[in-house]
Amino acid sequence: MTHEYADFESFRRAIDERWREHLQVHGLAAVLSKTDPLTGKLLRPLAMYHAARATGGAGASLVDAALALQLIHSASLLHDDVLDNAMTRRGAANTRPADLVLGGDLLLTSAYALAAEVPMAGSRFAWAVQRMARGEAHQGTARGAIDYETYRRVITDKSGALFGWAFYSALVLNDKTGAALEAEQLGDRLGYLYQLLDDYLDWCPFTETGKPPLQDARQGKHTLPLFFHSGSLDAAGDVSEAVRTLFADGSMERALAHFEAECEDWLKEAAILLGRKYAPFAEMVHDFQRQARGAWQHNYRQLVEETRLHA
Ligand code: FPP
Ligand code: MG
Repeated sequence: MTHEYADFESFRRAIDERWREHLQVHGLAAVLSKTDPLTGKLLRPLAMYHAARATGGAGASLVDAALALQLIHSASLLHDDVLDNAMTRRGAANTRPADLVLGGDLLLTSAYALAAEVPMAGSRFAWAVQRMARGEAHQGTARGAIDYETYRRVITDKSGALFGWAFYSALVLNDKTGAALEAEQLGDRLGYLYQLLDDYLDWCPFTETGKPPLQDARQGKHTLPLFFHSGSLDAAGDVSEAVRTLFADGSMERALAHFEAECEDWLKEAAILLGRKYAPFAEMVHDFQRQARGAWQHNYRQLVEETRLHA
C-alpha cells in the first residue's frame, strides 16, 4: 500500500479534495451549488474505512469508492425527498421536485463513473444501487401492516445494500476477495441496524433527534415499534392515539430491547469476522444504542406536545 490514511479525518479530507476536483473537471460546480453531498457523519465511507483498516489497510485506492458511495447516498436522499413529498428537507427552499431529481441524477451519474474505476468491485456497485432502489419500491407498495420478515428484507435492501458494498469493496481492494461476500452480509446488517434506529427515532421527539417526529407514521409506513404492539394499529389514521398506545402498552420498550439485542448479535459476528480490529464498529453500534435509549427516556410528554403541534 502506497499511502495509508491513519485516521478518518485525513481520509475524509482526501474524499473532499477528490470531489472538488471532480466538480471542476466535469463542470458541475455551478449546477450543484445548492447541494453538498459531503456533509454529515459520512457513515457509509466511515464503515468502508473501518472495514478496510480491519482487513489490511485504508489506502488511496479507497477514495474513489468512498466518494462514489457517498454520492449515490446523497442522490438517493434527494430522490427520496421527492417520493416523500418533503421538498425542503434536504433541498433548498423554493426547490422544485424536478430540480431535486436532476441534482440526484448528476450525483448518481458521477457516482457510477467513479465506481466504474474501482478495480474488481465496480460492477457490484450497480447491483447494490439497484437493491437500494428495489427496497424503496417495496416500501412504497408495502404500506400498512406487514410481517417482520418482509420489513427486515425491505429495510436491509433499502438501507443495507450500500453498507454491504462498503464492506465488499473494502475487502476486495485489500485482496480479501474470498471473504468479501461474507463481509458484504455483515455490512448489509449494519445498514439494517441503522434503519431500525432511524425508524425507532421516528417515534421520538424532535428535541432528542433533531428530526420532526412521526413523519414515517403519518405516511403509513410500518416501522419498528408497531411490530411490538399486539393488536393492529393504524398509525396513519390517528397518530396521537398510536403514540399513546405504543408508550402505554410497553411496545416502545420492547422495540428498544429488540433493537439492542440485534445490535449485540451484530457485534458478535463482527468480532468473529474482523477480529480485534472491529473495535471502531463497537463504538459506532454502541452510539446507535445510546441514541435510541437517550431519545426514548422520559420524553413521552414532549412527544405528545409535538404531536399536537405538528398534527
Ligand atoms: C432514506 O430513508 C432513503 C433511502 C435509504 C433510500 C432511498 C432510495 C431511493 C429514493 C431509490 C432510488 C435512488 C437512486 C439514487 C437510484 P428513509 O426514507 O427511511 O429516511 P427519511 O426518514 O430521511 O425519509
Ligand atoms: Mg423517506
